Amino acid sequence: MVADPFNPFAACHFRLKYATDPWETAGAAALRRQVFCDEQQIFEGDDRDAVDETAIHLVALSTMAVLADEVVGTVRIHQSEPGIWYGSRLAVDARYRRVGALGAALIKLAVSSANALGCIRFYANVQAQNELMFRRLNWQRVEEVTLHGMPHVFMQADLAAYPALDNAPEGFHALAGKKAAA
Ligand SMILES: CC(C)(COP(=O)(O)OP(=O)(O)OC[C@H]1O[C@@H](n2cnc3c(N)ncnc32)[C@H](O)[C@@H]1OP(=O)(O)O)[C@@H](O)C(=O)NCCC(=O)NCCS
Repeated sequence: MVADPFNPFAACHFRLKYATDPWETAGAAALRRQVFCDEQQIFEGDDRDAVDETAIHLVALSTMAVLADEVVGTVRIHQSEPGIWYGSRLAVDARYRRVGALGAALIKLAVSSANALGCIRFYANVQAQNELMFRRLNWQRVEEVTLHGMPHVFMQADLAAYPALDNAPEGFHALAGKKAAA
């Protein structure tokens, strides 16, 4: 018998929120290791640093029916001084890239959450290959920098494009192929 080729199953409904349950935090850490250690080889073994102690960790969860299923995206935000916020460690599971606008949805949750917490300026060090994506999402280049031996662009978000989110910890839902709706 010859089996027909088929595409592996990929969830099409996602929930984006603060990581609250231990499995969400652990899933985000595992995804970061997979992306930043194994795939990109920026860090060896573990990418955690001091920022993780104070950061707010955000996750994108794939859902089966109504149940949250798996962490398929993550990003963290932290405040370095009053009103000045940073986003970092943005990662989407390779199976879900460019299918659900998950990266854009995580950026939206990150900046809109900080905005709700009194953000005045929001920055990120963006890997150079992702600059265009951020520019399309209303970020502006501040300057080029080298981090971990790799070219990055220090960028600032246009906060007007990311209105403060009511009930940010609860986040919002997103569908594959559709922009996230608050
Ligand atoms: C970068 C990353 C988070 C993007 O996630 P994603 O879920 O694939 O992004 P989205 O699907 O939300 O993309 C939003 C839009 O930007 C486009 N896009 C995605 N990556 C892009 C890139 N590197 N350059 C230009 N455009 C890009 C998408 O096609 C989409 O366009 P559309 O609105 O016209 O459909 C993901 O590729 C990833 O995890 N990469 C490895 C880790 C990494 O680079 N992290 C970021 C460090 S700064």
